[in-house]
Amino acid sequence: MYDDFGSDERIIHVCVNVDCRLRGSEAVRDRLQKLVDEQDADIEVNDYICFAACEQGPNLLIEHKRAFYSEVSESDAEGVLGHALDGPAVEAIDRSSSFIARKIFNMLDAGFKPGDLSLTE
Ligand code: FES
Repeated sequence: MYDDFGSDERIIHVCVNVDCRLRGSEAVRDRLQKLVDEQDADIEVNDYICFAACEQGPNLLIEHKRAFYSEVSESDAEGVLGHALDGPAVEAIDRSSSFIARKIFNMLDAGFKPGDLSLTE
């Protein structure tokens, strides 16, 4: 349902705010960045401040796929990157049909860019 909407930007936003960080989001982000670098993948990994889904972190958004993942662990990074590179979703952690994900997608559709609130440029 929330598949590729054709954005030119290929970005994975990883929440690194307190709750997600305490659950290991920085390790997820670092693993994703390492895989991107190793594969020379055309994907940006971006620090994000909060998706308001703190209790189910670590959370991340694959912006160009309209995919929202929760309870992501470092071992999920390869599958998440695979999805960002047009592979299948990682079903076990895919929360793209959740209420909060729909709100995030609504903001994207309204023109709000997650990068506007990111911690990195
Ligand atoms: S701290 Fe990550 S969603 Fe709020």
